[in-house]
Amino acid sequence: MKIVVIGATGTIGKEVVKALEKEHEVVKVGNSQGDLLVDMTSTESIAALFKKTGRFDALICAAGHAKFSSLNELTYEDYFLGLRNKLMGQVALFLEGRKYINDEGAMTLTSGILSQEPMPGSSSISMINAGLEGFVRAAQLESERGIRINCVSPAWVKETMEAMGMDSSPGIPAAQVAGVYVESLKDSHRGEILDVRRYL
Ligand SMILES: NC(=O)c1ccc[n+]([C@@H]2O[C@H](COP(=O)([O-])OP(=O)(O)OC[C@H]3O[C@@H](n4cnc5c(N)ncnc54)[C@H](OP(=O)(O)O)[C@@H]3O)[C@@H](O)[C@H]2O)c1
Repeated sequence: MKIVVIGATGTIGKEVVKALEKEHEVVKVGNSQGDLLVDMTSTESIAALFKKTGRFDALICAAGHAKFSSLNELTYEDYFLGLRNKLMGQVALFLEGRKYINDEGAMTLTSGILSQEPMPGSSSISMINAGLEGFVRAAQLESERGIRINCVSPAWVKETMEAMGMDSSPGIPAAQVAGVYVESLKDSHRGEILDVRRYL
């Protein structure tokens, strides 16, 4: 299969690429580095990306940013950072990408467990993750040509916790998280939210 991975240079994306590239043609897309570049906050940039990739069989997006901060500190505009980037960026990748994906193709977006299990400081991220999950479930209902859309919901990644100086013992290694993205491409998943912890 020809698989486009957005966020291919990131903590999770790098492992997704490793898990796929032995058996598939992988187009690695980043924001500042990669085979191809995209800014997922720009519909023009996304349209230009798919003109370069041409047709493909699957797309995985392991990118998307939103601000983690307390209710007292988050400004109204801070919420729009995540809305434009992680939420509408991934929605735009799906909407434009479906023009290029082959019949029976699969697209996988990324949310996160804060949608279901919030914590202080997560109001923006929880809202965005929940919005993505609602979008995925609904978009599958209108999907044409056998195209599937799913969402992987990662828990804290071990390497991320280490990089942030947190106790990483409850973290899940990125390589294990990547395995769930591979799982999401299987025919059996349609409009599903794949909670990484269920697949360990
Ligand atoms: N890590 C965790 O613990 C965790 C837990 C739950 C959910 N998640 C979610 O999983 C996803 C990936 O997380 P991660 O920790 O792997 O991220 P990361 O290490 O920060 O990597 C981000 C990736 O996104 C790319 N990127 C940044 N800005 C972009 C833009 N405007 N347009 C397109 N691509 C852009 C980066 O490209 P460059 O390298 O070229 O800049 C990089 O490849 C995110 O949606 C995150 O919310 C992560």
